[in-house]
Amino acid sequence: MTSMTGAANLLAALPGRYYTDPAIFELDERQIFRRSWLCVGRADALSEPGRYRRIELGEESVLVVRGRDGELSAFLNLCRHRGAQLCSEESGSFSRTIRCAYHSWSYGLDGRLLAAPNMRDMPDLVRADYGLHPVRAEQWLGYLWLNLDPEAQQLAAQVEPQLAERLGDGVLERYGIERLGVAATIDYSVAANWKSIIENFMECYHCASIHPELTAALPQFRSGYGTISDGMAAGASFAEHVDGFSLSGRATHPRLPGLGPSDDRLFYGLVLRPNVLLILVPDHVALYRLEPLGPGHTRVTVDWLFDRDTMAGDGFDATDAIALLDITNRQDFDACERCQRGMRSAAYSGVLVPAEHVITDFYAQYLAAIGEHPAGSPRERG
Ligand code: FES
Ligand code: FE
Repeated sequence: MTSMTGAANLLAALPGRYYTDPAIFELDERQIFRRSWLCVGRADALSEPGRYRRIELGEESVLVVRGRDGELSAFLNLCRHRGAQLCSEESGSFSRTIRCAYHSWSYGLDGRLLAAPNMRDMPDLVRADYGLHPVRAEQWLGYLWLNLDPEAQQLAAQVEPQLAERLGDGVLERYGIERLGVAATIDYSVAANWKSIIENFMECYHCASIHPELTAALPQFRSGYGTISDGMAAGASFAEHVDGFSLSGRATHPRLPGLGPSDDRLFYGLVLRPNVLLILVPDHVALYRLEPLGPGHTRVTVDWLFDRDTMAGDGFDATDAIALLDITNRQDFDACERCQRGMRSAAYSGVLVPAEHVITDFYAQYLAAIGEHPAGSPRERG
């Protein structure tokens, strides 16, 4: 897949079926999304004991509940009796128990089976064997992360190597994401495969063509090489006339508390496979969550995160800052949608130019994850 094509500087793109074929989408679900830690939303939405959220992960429905002891538990939204879904609301509060509406089996907030009608007739019903199926849950960056694979390693084993490769030690920590508040959230419904959205985020060959606003702020992106495709550990610098990462180019908010003057004019973008993209700029962070809904449909939810004290100040207004990425997102997603339509053609066969060769790293990781190994070795790292 990553072997050289006729021209030595062009590498073959993944065939279109990886983006359009329902069977491959199922493979992605089974091999990647059912086995990885997935960022599913803010953890602070579940601050009160008894609060719950229902989260759909592919075919599975998960309940995340804050227990009376303050601990978060997650389990499948699936009654152990005959499989009724326990909750159909997106969120809410349980009093003391979770009761199935069908035959009234009831469970504790920690998932244990507490009682079932006529239990005396069923000496074989050992309560400990019929608790709700647990789902692994962790909190990181102020977000809730779930993993449907009971055998999975800890979240750190998934994200730390990616952070070390892209940012190096301590950079992400300085942004203090877990302490930030959400100033705005936008949901984008994108008619494109999840992989296209990640690949588009990794390359900047398109930046000069479709992102006039972004390249006005980050002029080096006009070269076709961005912070990921160029492996720039130091981030990209703002244009000389630009003071902040906003549509107007003005710095609208003070820098985040953990940052120093050397961070003032820097932009970082990074991918945390499989479903998170992060953008770090001096006064805010944008966290993207990808939710694959079908081979050609992905929901992308973007949170804009600011310092809570700044947000509480008089006249806080993030409109200018949000507008720059929002415009850029719409340009990107429109391009991904156009590719998705083209990839359905029997004639489709794409190539990666040198500025896009970084995408072959993603191909190699992706193909290994679904159990297919690329024919050639991934791009040599320069
Ligand atoms: Fe839940 Fe019967 S299906 S109690
Ligand atoms: Fe882009």
